[in-house]
Parts: sequence; structure tokens; C-alpha cells
Amino acid sequence: MKDRIARHMIESALADGRLRPGGVVVEASSGNTAMGMAMVAVEHGLRCVMVVRRQTSREKLDCLRAMGVELVLVDGELPPEHPESYNRKARELAASIPGAFFPDQHNNRANNEAHYLTTGPEIWRQMDGRIDFFVCGIGTGGTISGVARYLKEQNPGVRVVAVDVAGSVFTDYFRTGTPGVPRRYLLEGLGDEELIACPEFERIDEMLQVTDSEAFLAARDLARSEGILAGGSSGAALWGVRQVAARLDRPARIVTLFSDSGTRYLSSIYNDDWMRKHGFLPEAEAGAPISSRP
Ligand SMILES: Cc1ncc(COP(=O)(O)O)c(C=O)c1O
Repeated sequence: MKDRIARHMIESALADGRLRPGGVVVEASSGNTAMGMAMVAVEHGLRCVMVVRRQTSREKLDCLRAMGVELVLVDGELPPEHPESYNRKARELAASIPGAFFPDQHNNRANNEAHYLTTGPEIWRQMDGRIDFFVCGIGTGGTISGVARYLKEQNPGVRVVAVDVAGSVFTDYFRTGTPGVPRRYLLEGLGDEELIACPEFERIDEMLQVTDSEAFLAARDLARSEGILAGGSSGAALWGVRQVAARLDRPARIVTLFSDSGTRYLSSIYNDDWMRKHGFLPEAEAGAPISSRP
């Protein structure tokens, strides 16, 4: 999904000269935008320097290395205002590397535009225009904002529900106008430690907040009940869909997006030891495989 924003931002920068042939793309990413950027960078013969949190899943880091990405690992626990933090480091690197282009996916609304031009129309066509709810995780906010704009232009009655993660500042901001106090969370791809410019909060009708545990258990349930092996943010989206469905008093069409594959989280949310270590699964009784427990 993030290849769409990577293509849109990189190719428009190449077209208007902000990025030159042989130049360098520098970005901060939870891993999936970095993967999209890597694909587009290879295609155009560009260098790709990505700032990624050290805590990012091992599978994502391995995939990025395999694609030739130069990784700059930062401590995900640093506060956003710290110069070495995830939120600051890419900007600083871009300023110091000659020929660098910083797409700035968190603040550049070309991100939203990519989804307005592609994901929104695709959903509308696939659903033959019959949509009651669009439920979507919010990370940079590009997906939900771009898709919401397109869907509401077609039918202002489509209700847009964002799924944020507990620990992110977005939900408090949406509900009260004041950003919440950030707390550590493990879900990759959703939420932020500070307010950013891409989320168009005015296009969102409601915001739900999922915990790490609810998102991870929903992702595991999705694999076992639907045969869809997807990531933690997809579990969050499914959890959001279930919240909306549970309070319906008549049938409705609810659309959601599963953003990435569970193969990127085999060592974390699909690993029982990791889940137990973080308290998301009960301790196994000696000798009893966790899968046999209720
Ligand atoms: C796995 C995953 N899901 C969801 C999102 C959120 O999408 P957006 O950034 O468009 O809000 C991201 C963003 O990086 C992601 O990596």
C-alpha cells in the first residue's frame, strides 16, 4: 500500500527537480513506507537512506537490507523533540546529505493525495459505490484522509472511522483539541508521539483507540478464522470493524484496509514466546502447547 505514496512523492520530486537523477531519498518510516521507497528508488537508480526505529520487526529490517536500503536505526523510546529521535533524525540527515530529498510522509499531503488518486477510487469501484462505513488505521493519516476525501465527495453519507493506538496523541486531540501525553506502545504503523500535518481530522467522523493486545489478538484471530495472515495494524482495523458492527441496528457495508502481511511479524505477534513475554498471552502451563489452550 505504501508503494503508492512512495511512487507519487518520488516521481513528482523527480519531475519538478527537487530530486535529481542519482540523488538520495531520506525518510523516517515504521518500515512499510521504507519498503515502498526502496522499490521506487531501485527503479530510478536512487540511493535510499531510511530512518527506522531499532524496535521495528526483524523481518522488516531484513527485507529492507535485502533491497539495498541504508538503514539508520534510532532508539524508538527517545522523545520526539530529541535530535536523534525517529521524528527528527531524517530531517537532519536530509539537510546534511548532498542531493538528498526528504519526502516527509508525516507532513507532506502528497501522501494523502496518492490515496485520493488511487486507493479511494479503487475502493469505490470495487464496492460499486455501496459503502456505509470506512474503518481505517491512522499512522501518517495519509490513507484515511485521502480515501475519506474521495469517498465523501462521491457520497457525503459515508461515515469514516479512524483506529488509533493507545499511547498515541491523536485520539485526545481529535476528541478534546489537546494532544494526549504519548506513552510507549508496540503496534507498528499506527499513531504518533506528536501531532503531524497529514491527518485531516475534519474528514474523520469518529476515532477509536485500540490497545496493543486487542490489535495483536485480532490479527492472530484473523489468521485462524479467515486464513488472512496480516500485520498488527490489520488486527487493529479488524478490531475497529467489530466495534462498529457490534452497535449496528441494521445491515451495513463496512470497508477496511489490511495494510501489510503477517510474514513481517513472525518473530513478534505470531510468536507465542514474544506474546507471552509482553503479557499478551497467558503463561503456558509446563508441557502444554499454547495452541491447545482455550
Ligand atoms: C503496517 C501499517 N499499517 C498502517 C499504516 C498507517 O497508514 P497511514 O500512514 O497512511 O496512516 C502504516 C503506516 O506506516 C503501516 O506501516
